[in-house]
Order: sequence, then C-alpha cells, then structure tokens
Amino acid sequence: MAPEPAGNETQALSNLLKENRRFAPPAELAAAANVTSAAYAEAAADRLAFWEQAADRLTWTKRWDTTLEWNPPFAKWFVGGELNVAYNCVDRHVEAGRGDKVAYHWEGEPEGDSRTLTYADLQREVNKATNALLELGVRKGDRVAVYMPMIPELPIAMLACARIGAIHSVVFGGFSATALKSRIDDADAKLVITADGGYRRGKPSALKPTVDEAVAECPQVEHVLVVRRTGQDVAAGDKDVWWHDVVDRQSDQHTAESHDAEDPLYILYTSGTTGRPKGILHTTGGYLTQTAYTHDAVFDLKPDTDIYWCTADIGWVTGHSYIVYGPLANGATSVIYEGTPDTPHRGRFWEIVQKYQVTLLYTAPTAIRTFMKWGDDIPAKYDMSSLRVLGSVGEPINPEAYVWYREHIGGDRCPVVDTWWQTETGAIMISPLPGVTAAKPGAAMRPLPGISADVVDDQGNSVPNGGGGFLVVREPWPSMLRTIWGDDQRYIDTYWSRFEGMYFPGDGAKKDDDGDLWLLGRVDDVMLVSGHNISTTEVESALVSHPKVAEAAVVGATDPVTGQAIVSFVILRGSAEESDDIAAELRNHVAKTLGPIAKPRQILVVPELPKTRSGKIMRRLLRDVAENRSIGDVTTLADSTVMNLISEKLPSAKSED
Ligand code: WT7
Repeated sequence: MAPEPAGNETQALSNLLKENRRFAPPAELAAAANVTSAAYAEAAADRLAFWEQAADRLTWTKRWDTTLEWNPPFAKWFVGGELNVAYNCVDRHVEAGRGDKVAYHWEGEPEGDSRTLTYADLQREVNKATNALLELGVRKGDRVAVYMPMIPELPIAMLACARIGAIHSVVFGGFSATALKSRIDDADAKLVITADGGYRRGKPSALKPTVDEAVAECPQVEHVLVVRRTGQDVAAGDKDVWWHDVVDRQSDQHTAESHDAEDPLYILYTSGTTGRPKGILHTTGGYLTQTAYTHDAVFDLKPDTDIYWCTADIGWVTGHSYIVYGPLANGATSVIYEGTPDTPHRGRFWEIVQKYQVTLLYTAPTAIRTFMKWGDDIPAKYDMSSLRVLGSVGEPINPEAYVWYREHIGGDRCPVVDTWWQTETGAIMISPLPGVTAAKPGAAMRPLPGISADVVDDQGNSVPNGGGGFLVVREPWPSMLRTIWGDDQRYIDTYWSRFEGMYFPGDGAKKDDDGDLWLLGRVDDVMLVSGHNISTTEVESALVSHPKVAEAAVVGATDPVTGQAIVSFVILRGSAEESDDIAAELRNHVAKTLGPIAKPRQILVVPELPKTRSGKIMRRLLRDVAENRSIGDVTTLADSTVMNLISEKLPSAKSED
C-alpha cells in the first residue's frame, strides 16, 4: 500500500487483535453475587436514582437536596448533603458492633514484622492523630502533605485529615525532593507528615532527608510530623515533631463534625506524560459513594468472610480508593504490605496470600508480567486456594498475561476483572462484574452500571462495533475530579475540550464485534504506519502471546518509507534462551497474529524496560532509542540505570527486510 504522510490523524484506530477465549463466571459466585445483570438496566432506566441508592450505603448526617448539579464541565453531587468520611470508614462500623473485626492486617517487609488493627483500634488511632493535628494547628480546608512508607500511620494520617476536613496531598515516597517541594508549594501545605524511612528491598530506605531538603525551601510549612519506623538517624529541625511524642499522648476520643458533600477530601498529583503535575481534586460524598459501590460490585466483596489485598502503594490513586476509602467504607478486612515482591524472595506475594488466606487480590499488569518472567514454579509452591476474584489495574493487560494470572495465581477458578479508571475518575469506570460477565482476556468489557463510556471517532461520533477510536465519558459520575487544584482553565482544556460535552481521558479504545471495550493505551503512543493508526497495546499483546516473551514495549520510529515503523523491545521469559533467530521468529509471529501491517521493523531483546514509579512503560524514552536520539528526561523513571542497559543492546539491533 502507498505510504501516507505521518501526521494524518483522521484514520480510525486499527482493530487488529482477535480473541476468542471467554471465561464465564463460576456458577457459585454468580448465584450469590452482590450485583447481578439487573443493575445495568436499573442504572440505564434512571442513572441518578441508581447513584442515590449507592449513596445510601453511606451514613449521612444530613441528606442531600439535589443529586446532581451539572454546569458542564463542573459537577456537584449530593448537593446539600453532609457526612464525615472518617466516620463512615471507621466509627460507624464500631458503633454497629463490628469493632473487633480486623480492618488491616499489616505486613512489614522484614519477615515477622506485622501488626493487626481492628476497626476499634483504627478508631482510637485516628482519633489520637486527629487530636494531634488539631494541636498542631490544622483546621478544615488546610492542606497537609503526606510523604510516607506503607505503614499503618499512612491511612491513619489520611483519615485524621478527612475527619477534620483538612485536605491531604499524599506524595508517593519514591519521589525526589524537587517533586515533593513543587507539590507542597502548589497546594500550599502547612504540615508535612512523614517517617524516618521505610523498608524496601531488604533495607531501610530513608525518607526524612528528602523532606528536609524540600521543606528547607518551603517557608509555609509550619511543622513536620515524623513517624519512627526504621530507627534511622534523622536530623532534628525546628519544625520537626515526633509522631510518638505528639500523637501517643492524645485522647482517643474525638467527635466527628459533618462536612459538605462537596468539601474537598484530597488532592493527588498526576504527572501524565508531559508537563507540570496536575493536582487532581476529589471531594467527599460522591467520591466515597462510587469507591464504596465499585469495591463491593467489582470484587463481589463479602465483608464478613473476604480478605482483600490491593498491592498498590497508597501514594497512588489505587491505594487511596481501594486500600483506604472504598474498603474501609465497606467494613472490609484488608492486607497492607510494606515492601517489594522480591524481598526476601520472589514468592513473597504468594506467601502473604497463603498466610492471610487472601480471597480478593488486586494488582497491576506490570507486576503480573514480572511474575511471568520469574517463572510458573514460584507461585506453584504456595497454597492459594483461598483466592476467589483477581483484579488488574494500571495498564492494558495483555491477553496472555491475563490468562497466566488466571491459571497460575487463580488456579483457573477465579474470574479476572480488568478495571479501567484513572486518578481523575477517582474510582473504577469500566470493568467486568465477576458474577455477571463472561470476560474476554485483555478486555475491560463494559462501563459499570451508572457510567456512560463510549468510543468515538475524530469527529466525536460513536464508532460502530468493530471500530476503534477515542475513549470518552458522556455523563458526569459521582467520583469524578472536580477540577485541577487552582487551575479551572487547565481542567477545561485538558479533559473537556477535545470533544464537545464529553470527558476525554486521553486513552485509545476499540469496540469488538460484540460491543465490548478494549483499552489500547494512551493516544499519544499510537503509531502511524503506512496510513494505519496502530495501537502499541495490540502489538505488545501479540508479542506477549509468544511463549518466549514475558513483556514487550513497542514504539513508532520515524521511517522514510512507512512514515513510522514499529520498533519492539522485549523481555524474554525466565525459561527462554536468547537466540540469533528470535527476532525473525517474533516478527513473523506478530505478522501472523495481527497481519503484515503490524510486523515490527526491529526487535530488541532487553533485560529491563523503562518504567515510571507506578509501573507504566515510558515509551517516550524508547522512542528516543529507536530514533537514535540522545535520551530525554529520565527523572520520572523508577530506575534511571535501565536506559543504559537498553542502549547497550542497540548495536545488536537488527533491521530486517
Ligand atoms: C491511566 C490512568 C487507575 C489507577 C491506576 C492508574 C491506564 C489504567 C487501565 C486498564 C488499560 C489502563 C490508562 C489510564 N489504565 N487502568 N485496566 N486498562 N489502561 O491511574 O496513573 O491516573 O493512570 O492508566 O491509560 O488513562 P493513573
């Protein structure tokens, strides 16, 4: 076919990958499921009534007057309603006689270091922390930056803020002093809560020196509240106060005030692919409604018997919504793990599943592909028969990784729910329901009841089944971001300007012949090859479907003939040997799976891929390698040495045909 110039963006996104496998819900799960297929019809018939019913799961001190006030693109949910988020997450369960129920089984990284907090324990700890924050001058509406390891004091600090109505801004503990400072400044935080350090990869990893460096340039910060976790030496500054000095001596009684449903709950910064981080603002009533509803619906949570574990860091939205707010609002028992999956050995996750008899597991494709690479024999050593539902979030899950997860972790018995959402959406938007959906590996399937997502073409017209394009959300939803902190215009420009009257998340997607949704990655990553818009996700999935490949990343590199050409970086599975003809073998495999148009020009076998701290592949840096440019900004990489390892592989890069 004649090449078309790169930059022709009107071509629809290609729909190349065909998948025929289906996994029906287990009969027993379906028979007792929290949510049945009727929910879709109910929500479609009256969306607002559906969300009102979901809001009734919460305890309100004043009922709302108006369910939704929509002045596009600004939404207010449950207008006039009042509630306290911390009361909903903690106190009401104690008052209902469930104080002895475990809220968190916390597992430190050093073996044998664990702690159990019941809802009654959590109530006492949150009340003490609340009283301490009040003593430190924190009031409703103030911003509090939180920079902590995965220890129980992290959710306790968040809940104490929520109780007061102070706005927390949790900054992931892997961020640099510069990143922390810019976030403290943007939110104008007056208090920073941190720890001396946390355990990572078998040793204490300091946090306090980073805070010291950031706070030295933040005059607005009045105090730094420090938890002693590792016992590392810390330089005591004028602003520093120890958690054990100020929190431990407080009363464990505190009466929660009511806050407006639209009072802010938190800011969470998201960097996206480019530009200054955006402070995503979430409020209370709608956010808690949708996180609680979706946690119950998508995981089929049975609070009396389930043990739920989300492996994300609380520093990301997944941890906010599905370690802290959703599960606690539902009175669930959760596991929190401090460390990394390979410490002290590569079976650590499965050991934890076995120890706590975890029933619901929520993790990320990047972790799943790493486990695939490490080999099937590792999970096989553990008894994971307690598991009943598996979740995935953060990136498209390649069908092969999905099937591996289902078989090797879920014993071919547990439904896998691929959940699509974003920091901005606050809660899950598109996902199978484990008791309803006959799921397809790699597909997020359908918008949840009450959510109106669609795929549109360049002009904003809904694409037919079998078509690809841009994911959009047509109607406001309760846990949506309300704005970007301090920058309404950027909120409008970023999310509401691409398509008239629709929210644009920035992701490509397709509808298959049944109308089920497949996420295809960020539209910035789409490749234009000979006039075809090809998604990175589909080519990566094709590569991962080869038995020798554990993980793949593809990018479009400028090509004189085709506009862009596909360049692939692959990590082989533990058992596979690198051989001379592997590149040809994989190129042919992609051509066979997706068609000749998607055949990569180059395949490079690499030991690692560049990833952000939240585990997303940074294709921008791989594009630099593929186009022989000097490598761009690597400051957001989790491991900045990875790019050297990849560049070293370059001379062996083979360009064929
Ligand atoms: C972006 C949002 C949602 C919490 C963690 C990430 C990608 C997320 C999926 C999925 C395909 C996914 C999207 C989205 N993404 N989940 N199931 N399938 N892509 O939050 O850091 O705000 O990232 O992650 O590209 O836009 P985030």
